[in-house]
Amino acid sequence: MDYRIAPSILSADFARLGEEVDNVLAAGADIVHFDVMDNHYVPNLTIGPLVCEALRKHGVSAPIDVHLMVKPVDRIVPDFAKAGASYITFHPEASEHIDRTIGLIRDAGCQPGLVFNPATPLDVLEWTLDKLDMVLLMSVNPGFGGQKFIPHVLEKARRVRRMIDERGLATRLEIDGGVGPANIAEVARAGVDTFVAGSAVFGAARDGDPHRYDSIIGALRAELAKVKS
Ligand code: DX5
Ligand code: ZN
Repeated sequence: MDYRIAPSILSADFARLGEEVDNVLAAGADIVHFDVMDNHYVPNLTIGPLVCEALRKHGVSAPIDVHLMVKPVDRIVPDFAKAGASYITFHPEASEHIDRTIGLIRDAGCQPGLVFNPATPLDVLEWTLDKLDMVLLMSVNPGFGGQKFIPHVLEKARRVRRMIDERGLATRLEIDGGVGPANIAEVARAGVDTFVAGSAVFGAARDGDPHRYDSIIGALRAELAKVKS
């Protein structure tokens, strides 16, 4: 399995964001998870297209996984495409026309994904899964880093994995919230291949050592290696 680790920059030091992203990628992370919150769809406010563009201008070439926790969705999609987003994922309940939004993301040159909150049913996948590059399962309620993993999401992950495999798709299955070395293997066994980790990664060490993320990314990979064998 091609596992990918996606640190959420929500827990990074925003005053040194470019350096933080460089360091976490140098330590072996695969994807930059970019949490966009609007104080409307979720009760928090974070970063927008200008910051995504700034990371690209800084030299970040890894995929940027833009997780939109905003309502409405469509207006901001072209801005993130221009700013250098790779994936753009959105919550289906935040869009009036889900199929149209998926098409908008694809036409803008990005890879679309749908995000499901812990209590949101998966029914829209029946008519969207073959158009998606990513399904993102929230294992916390969206809005904040550092929350506790909600275990019933493992059963959801098993269901989505079955749907992806039955249809022979290459759609990535990502999980977001409360993931760290203690549970990443269990999450992988449920069929997840892409792992967001915010507080576990950026909270791991803040001692000014530029290699300080090696041990946490290494610990996550060591847990994943146990699953493969
Ligand atoms: C929550 C965000 C997450 C968050 C995860 O709304 O979507 O990406 O940063 O943080 P941890 O890994 O600390 O749960
Ligand atoms: Zn996220």
